[in-house]
Amino acid sequence: MISVENIIYRYDQGDPVLKSLSMAVGDGEYVALIGPNGCGKTTLIKHLNALLVPAEGVVLVDGTDTKDSSAVREIRRRVGMVFQNPDNQIIGMSVEEDVAFGPGNLGLPSSEIRERVDASLAMVGMADYAKRAPHTLSGGEKRLISIAGVLAMKPRYIAFDEPTASLDPSSRQRVIDIIRKLNTEGIAIIHIAHDMDEIIHADRVMVMDRGGISVSGTPREVFARIEYLKTLGLHIPQVVELLWKLRQMGWDVSTDVLTIEDACLEISASAGDHSDTGDSSRVRKRMGEYV
Ligand SMILES: Nc1ncnc2c1ncn2[C@@H]1O[C@H](COP(=O)(O)OP(=O)(O)O)[C@@H](O)[C@H]1O
Ligand SMILES: [Mg+2]
Repeated sequence: MISVENIIYRYDQGDPVLKSLSMAVGDGEYVALIGPNGCGKTTLIKHLNALLVPAEGVVLVDGTDTKDSSAVREIRRRVGMVFQNPDNQIIGMSVEEDVAFGPGNLGLPSSEIRERVDASLAMVGMADYAKRAPHTLSGGEKRLISIAGVLAMKPRYIAFDEPTASLDPSSRQRVIDIIRKLNTEGIAIIHIAHDMDEIIHADRVMVMDRGGISVSGTPREVFARIEYLKTLGLHIPQVVELLWKLRQMGWDVSTDVLTIEDACLEISASAGDHSDTGDSSRVRKRMGEYV
């Protein structure tokens, strides 16, 4: 578990960016972090692996204080980071050399490094790219390589900072699918997201506002706070927005949905109530053929 307790952080002499912020990430949990630009999301996740340490308060990674300089290497192995711009993270002359960089620094035997590189590249679907020069890869492929580099450290947690930013739709989907797969294999995820449709599968969504976590709950609970999220200038998932607008038009629908399938059922049930047959079960049955 990662536990963040009442941390305060300021850059230089500025106002605090993190103002007595507390949060936690459980073992194997998938936590999404959202909030307006500049609210401190990146600053917060840099505290999770000791890239930054708080001025006040404490960050514990599996019980170890990130201020303990003798533990920093192990903390950085446990808590991997995938940043927005993969070019800053790619250092090797070939893809495999790049992915081997982290485990190489752990002083592991070369057979173990080889195994980890192969397994990590396979995990992100990039095994065929091992010999390629990183600069010849697309933005999406580079992002996958930086994820493989983190996986080769066998982390317990990975923080992703807007991992789909500036990717095309198919690369985005690939990255999202990989994040979900890593989570099902037991790695805890902290996912800073801009596109809310990407995080409807998270266990928990945390909203950051004015230097703290203002709301934390399941995606349904958090996205139900539509008015509040809008005051922060945040998007909400499109299906939630659709039902919210229908409600405003007087439709008797709940906004407590996350998927298109749920939204169809909700709308057809409401439409069925007003139709001649009133038989929404038929619509539900028909939907069932698709979901
Ligand atoms: N290296 C830095 N030096 C000074 N100020 C910074 C630095 N990095 C971020 N900030 C400031 O800290 C605040 C939070 O930034 P950041 O954590 O990047 O927010 P977010 O990731 O939510 O967009 C912003 O006001 C930003 O300008
Ligand atoms: Mg950021």
